[in-house]
Amino acid sequence: MDLDINDNGVLIVGGAKGIGHAIALEFAKEGADVVLADIDPQVTEAASTMAETATGRISGVVLDATDYEAVKQLASNMQEHTDRLNHIVYAAGVGSNKFGFPFWEMEPADWPFVLEVNLMGAVNVAHAFAPHMQQCGEGSLLFIASIAAQMGSQTDPPYSAAKAAIVNFMQVVAKDFASYNVRANAISPGMIQTTLNKSVWAAWNERQDEADKKSYEDWAGEKISTICPLGRWQEPSDIGKMAVFLASKAAKNVTGQTINVDGGIIMHS
Ligand SMILES: NC(=O)c1ccc[n+]([C@@H]2O[C@H](COP(=O)([O-])OP(=O)(O)OC[C@H]3O[C@@H](n4cnc5c(N)ncnc54)[C@H](O)[C@@H]3O)[C@@H](O)[C@H]2O)c1
Repeated sequence: MDLDINDNGVLIVGGAKGIGHAIALEFAKEGADVVLADIDPQVTEAASTMAETATGRISGVVLDATDYEAVKQLASNMQEHTDRLNHIVYAAGVGSNKFGFPFWEMEPADWPFVLEVNLMGAVNVAHAFAPHMQQCGEGSLLFIASIAAQMGSQTDPPYSAAKAAIVNFMQVVAKDFASYNVRANAISPGMIQTTLNKSVWAAWNERQDEADKKSYEDWAGEKISTICPLGRWQEPSDIGKMAVFLASKAAKNVTGQTINVDGGIIMHS
């Protein structure tokens, strides 16, 4: 399939590593300009490495998405990185690093940081880039959510709630941008080996009695064989390929949707 996005540009917030980085690699393979933005300073090195094999322009910017002034500054400086930005991906995310079952094992004070990064960071980006997206004529926004948004996951309640909120906001974004030919969608990954996924296991493991502790591999293996019909991990590149498809003209009539890339953990009619 010719995705025809080689003359496009994409900003990926949370692009230094993990799923965001895999999304960036897939856009770069298609020849798009890619701007990686991340709170992790290694983002600049990640961009330089990607640039070695890319045909489009690749740049890396240190950005804390929870800092609205900084996000607005990036929006006004975007010409320094690409003059063809028409896609934005919000892939930044954090967990609470606490095991939240039952919910009263956590404190209300554990919530704001998780909401700030997973929800407000995305809101900041949508607001800061709204004027640009209205001008660009054709484009898309993509929010990386989670299947936790759809099941009231007991593992990390603030994370689950933040992801549900971002799916809801994505639908508003899709409606408000529709008349500008700008689409908005969400991808909900299932289980992918990343720093964040491992931190969920670490928080769980820490709370177990010594005899019940498990390795990351055993914990994940049991979980996947219990809840995932396809019985396997999802790969970061699975999300990357879906992200590129959703940005492309092949998905020109797909907006306001949440696509689960989860091996069938959650099935909707
Ligand atoms: N790994 C999974 O199994 C899984 C499952 C469902 C959803 N997700 C979602 O996928 C997305 C990517 O997560 P991941 O698993 O790749 O984790 P990750 O930790 O590897 O990547 C997250 C990235 O976000 C960046 N980030 C964190 N706070 C930021 C901030 N304030 N500003 C800018 N960047 C910031 C981090 O530095 C990191 O590079 C997240 O939204 C996560 O919730 C992951």
